Formats: sequence, structure tokens, C-alpha cells
Amino acid sequence: MKSSHVFSRLLSVLLLAMATQALAADAASAEKLAKQSNCFKCHMIDQKKESTSWHDIAVKYRGKPDAEEKLTYHLTSGEKVKFDDGHEENHKIVKSKDPVEIKNLVSWILSL
Ligand code: HEC
Repeated sequence: MKSSHVFSRLLSVLLLAMATQALAADAASAEKLAKQSNCFKCHMIDQKKESTSWHDIAVKYRGKPDAEEKLTYHLTSGEKVKFDDGHEENHKIVKSKDPVEIKNLVSWILSL
């Protein structure tokens, strides 16, 4: 059946477009939350500062199914991190308790 074939092609294109939309992070609000949380004191998006750039972090986690879960834990738990000079500190906790905002920041970092 030709027409049903066309229909299913259209449907899959539509579903794909919707999925892409859902995945895309809202960069402006992610960046705003990162600013409010002073993340840029130690991180830059694409260059090394006190710590690894977020782009390199995104590359490190690319294709890992638990990436979002790991980073969410990282940003909300205050787990220990090691700095280049070897000293350790509790990592900064993101200044939001809203799971939607936090998820958005995490997706944005992973998309960089
Ligand atoms: C005082 C400096 C400092 C601040 C402020 C800071 N970070 Fe970090 N961050 C680090 C260090 C150090 C590491 C771990 C070592 C590395 O990855 O280079 C790290 C690691 C990370 C990682 C990677 C974790 C992993 O599992 O690989 C992410 C993502 C991250 N930070 C995001 C953030 C966000 C978002 C904020 C703001 C809420 C923030 N950081 C604020 C220093 C900082």
C-alpha cells in the first residue's frame, strides 16, 4: 500500500522532530543557573580553567547511558573533587532545588 507507506514515513519524521525538541536543552536558562551558582568561577564552556571545560566533560560522557544520572548526583550531592594541584574540596552544589531546572542544566552541559 503506497499511501500508508508515505503516512508512516511522515509519522516517523514527525516523531523524530518531537524527540529532538524534547532533548534540546534551554541554553539561556541553563547558563543563567550556572551563573547564579558561580560555576564559571572554575569552569569555562570550551577552555580549561580551574577545572575541565564543560565541552570536555560532555565528550567524556558521550554515549554513556548513566551520564545524566551521574552529573545530577555530582551537582546536588557536593561530592569530593580533586583539583589539579592535588587538593580536594566538596564540589559546589547547584543553586536550585527544582529538578526541571537541574535536568536542563545537566542536558545543556552534556550537549556542549
Ligand atoms: C571551586 C571550583 C569549582 C566550582 C565553583 C564548580 N566546579 Fe565543577 N568541578 C570542579 C572540579 C575541581 C571538578 C573535578 C575535576 C575535573 O573534572 O576537572 C569539577 C567537575 C565538574 C563536572 C564533571 C563531573 C564528572 O563526573 O566528571 C561537572 C559536570 C561540573 N563540575 C559542573 C559544575 C557546575 C554545574 C558548577 C556550578 C553549580 C560547578 N561545576 C562549580 C571545580 C568546580
